[in-house]
Amino acid sequence: MNKDYFYVTTPIYYVNDKPHIGHAYTTILADVLARYHRLAGVPTHFLTGTDEHGQKVKQAADKAGMSPREQADRTVVRFQEAWQRLEITNDDFIRTTEDRHIKVVQGILQDLYDRGEIYKADYDGWYDVSSETFVTEKDLPEGQNPEDLPNITRIRETNYFFRMSAYQDWLIQYINDNPEFIQPEMRRNETLGFLRKPLGDLCISRPKSRMSWGIELPFDKDFVTYVWFDALVNYISAIGYRGDDEHFKRWWPVSLQLIGKDILTTHTVYWPTMLKAMNLPMPGTVFAHGWWLTGKTKMSKSLGNVVNPMDCIERFGVDAFRYFLMSEMSLGQDASFTEEAFILKYNADLANDLGNVLNRVMKLIQKDFGGKVPEALTLTEAEHDLQRAAVAAAEGMLQSVKAMRLDLGLQGLAAVVRRANQYLEQQQPWSLVKEPANRERVATVLYTVAELLRIVSGMLYPVMPGKMIDLRKALGLGVDPPQFERLHHWGGLTAGTQISEMIQLFPRAQKPSSDNEDLKMEQTKPAADKAADGLIDISEFGRVQLRTARILTAEKIDGADKLLKLQIDLGVEQRQLVAGIAQHYSPDELPGRMILVVANLKPARIRGVESCGMLLAASHEGGLVLLAPDGDIPPGCPVK
Ligand code: MSP
Repeated sequence: MNKDYFYVTTPIYYVNDKPHIGHAYTTILADVLARYHRLAGVPTHFLTGTDEHGQKVKQAADKAGMSPREQADRTVVRFQEAWQRLEITNDDFIRTTEDRHIKVVQGILQDLYDRGEIYKADYDGWYDVSSETFVTEKDLPEGQNPEDLPNITRIRETNYFFRMSAYQDWLIQYINDNPEFIQPEMRRNETLGFLRKPLGDLCISRPKSRMSWGIELPFDKDFVTYVWFDALVNYISAIGYRGDDEHFKRWWPVSLQLIGKDILTTHTVYWPTMLKAMNLPMPGTVFAHGWWLTGKTKMSKSLGNVVNPMDCIERFGVDAFRYFLMSEMSLGQDASFTEEAFILKYNADLANDLGNVLNRVMKLIQKDFGGKVPEALTLTEAEHDLQRAAVAAAEGMLQSVKAMRLDLGLQGLAAVVRRANQYLEQQQPWSLVKEPANRERVATVLYTVAELLRIVSGMLYPVMPGKMIDLRKALGLGVDPPQFERLHHWGGLTAGTQISEMIQLFPRAQKPSSDNEDLKMEQTKPAADKAADGLIDISEFGRVQLRTARILTAEKIDGADKLLKLQIDLGVEQRQLVAGIAQHYSPDELPGRMILVVANLKPARIRGVESCGMLLAASHEGGLVLLAPDGDIPPGCPVK
């Protein structure tokens, strides 16, 4: 860890929609890294925020029938609330519609324009509406005609351009000389590959006649700033560039910029050339992480498989969610989110190991040592071994923070907790304690495991702050964050410390189940408090998207006599779903029928067949009838 300071940023998120797991992931990662640095006493600054201008936000606002400003004001709250629930400890939150940001963007533009770094010219070329970038043929998949690609349109207009091409040679040299600048290595190679072809100048304006939702160019009132030229500046406007010099010098250059792999070019080509033109030093590292997939599928709104972080928190708690995300993604690679994998990891690492070890130790300390941590006296090789393993796992965790391989550090900590569980099995303190002569030995065993938990809980604190404070309180360690310097040294727990009443840190989670043997769909568990009376509130119902659909084809599934595989028309798309109706309907009577389906159910495999949705049917005395709209209505209509 750099001892002087740590300034970490996340991308700023578009306010066109609510936060999803991808946003949550980067923000939790930044939070975890910030917390490790703070724990180590490194002055830390953590910035996140929202990207509020541009076409995406404008389109979302138009669709919702409100002004872009209203759209931004409403959506930003959802991000801020989500970050609060996820225990994110950002020091600042920037919105690109704030004055402090707009002033800086305009100041930079004017300065670059005055110095000839920005010029006016005609543009005739391709434009990608989805990424809001001008694209040249070299950006397109080989052999593809741009006209055939969705979102690509031809544009002819006068615009302002930043002389990005002038910095191409410098940038290649800089990347080669500073291997830590773009991480992981595969992404550095990707950027260098991109830079092998000639770099054009960057169009940094949009005529107001086409897109008015942006920051006005200070030197031409008919144009607004291109959203990326505006957004990237947040990393310096938020820390006082061209305003609060002292604050700016305190934190710039930024230590670490976390991004997703899809926004690599903007951050490793546009951004460094912009900074170079401003005569500012380069970021320490731009780190691009991979994507979260649902199973093996890309998350997308149309598939209805986007994981909503708020649902996960509700079901499993904030800390378990943070732990899963941090331990499951090997940084740089893609990772898969499924409820099944979540429950497996949760039960293995947290409920069966960590929770269980704590439980066993606390029970014996309560029962046989009056609730006071006993003293370790004569240590055998088994205790020395466990001590060494705990200290090594703690140090491994810190190394993994440096190396951006949190998954490995967390694996090491999980392994040492598993080892503590095995050690308890081998030592059998619950049997030993029955002989008074063994009391000293039992005391040593219990102290050893309790001390191991102190170290592990401190190291896991940045990932699971709430639960680890609970664990530490249970061990009588108080409510303050752990003290870093005591974390990787054995012996921090004082004998005689009063532990708390028993707590259940991580109750076991149930595997998804279904009462129908054939339909092993991933099911959601209702939150415990609401399950009590079986009632749900309207907001819960509102999360279920019901739609009208038309059955296109139906066929039997080999070896499953209750199931049919259906292709359905959902208006904007076709889907496949598996339904347990084979004993009530034959495949040839179904095509053409209108039905009602749950459209936002997570895709699941039923008997090896992908099912994206569920149809609605009513059952009576063993019979089953499909529910259908009463009247002529096209497929894809929402059911309210
Ligand atoms: N507003 C721009 C960033 C400007 S930064 C100066 C933007 N916003 S975004 O909201 O579309 O995406 C923000 C981040 O979320 C990106 O880093 C993107 O990679 C990430 N993710 C979006 N979906 C994701 C997953 N399914 N998995 C992981 N991260 C993904 O781009």
